[in-house]
Amino acid sequence: MARMNYIAGNWKMNLLPEMAVELTELIKSQLVPKPNQEIVLFPQTGLIPLISQVLLDSTIQLGAQNTSDQLSGAYTGENSPELLKALRCSYCLIGHSERRQYFSESDEFIARKAEVLTSLKITPIICIGESLEEREKEIHLEKITNQIKAIYQRLEPDVWSGLVFAYEPIWAIGTGKTATADQADEIHKFIRSEIGRLGNEFVASQTSILYGGSAKPSNAKELLSREDIDGLLVGGASLNADDFLNIIESC
Ligand code: 13P
Repeated sequence: MARMNYIAGNWKMNLLPEMAVELTELIKSQLVPKPNQEIVLFPQTGLIPLISQVLLDSTIQLGAQNTSDQLSGAYTGENSPELLKALRCSYCLIGHSERRQYFSESDEFIARKAEVLTSLKITPIICIGESLEEREKEIHLEKITNQIKAIYQRLEPDVWSGLVFAYEPIWAIGTGKTATADQADEIHKFIRSEIGRLGNEFVASQTSILYGGSAKPSNAKELLSREDIDGLLVGGASLNADDFLNIIESC
């Protein structure tokens, strides 16, 4: 069975309602669906009900940028995964480096979020990756291993096949400095082998691993040509319909 390919747009904390609807309409009207390809948009939380309506008659999937690790209840200011489900989110980003860095999210906390999402059949896209300092100190593989290990330690084997990973080297995010296809592919192969070791080989062969970090029309094709790169998680370039559609075309 072939792995699913993804082009995902993480809008981060950008766009107001009018612009967000316009961008979604443009992508929706020009998208030519391809087999085995999933397009997912990740608006900020307040935009989700609106974008969910726009996507009602579309093959484009909706995702959230974050979730609580609790289903619902007295957690002021948090995003209930039950609400995300009711608003038709089928994906949720977790462990984005901006959340790990600015909101001190730990590997264990992120694993609990993965657990709560899988219990609702929302697919977690688990972001992992190292900083420049960690790469220079050559501790990046250890960091990535720990990020993966926390997930397989926490989750029951029956949900392992429903996970997606995104390798996002922190030094490539929003910097214009993309990992080369060789650099990315090397780490993707490492991630897949770690999934095989910490989970199992079958799950490793079936798990989509996306690359994120300054992905754009000029480098998308090269990155996507690699065997172990199953898609892109696009930040800045997903805010422009032409750029995003161009990236989708490369897939
Ligand atoms: P950029 O594409 O803007 O570098 O962002 C990548 C990212 O963080 C996607 O989640």
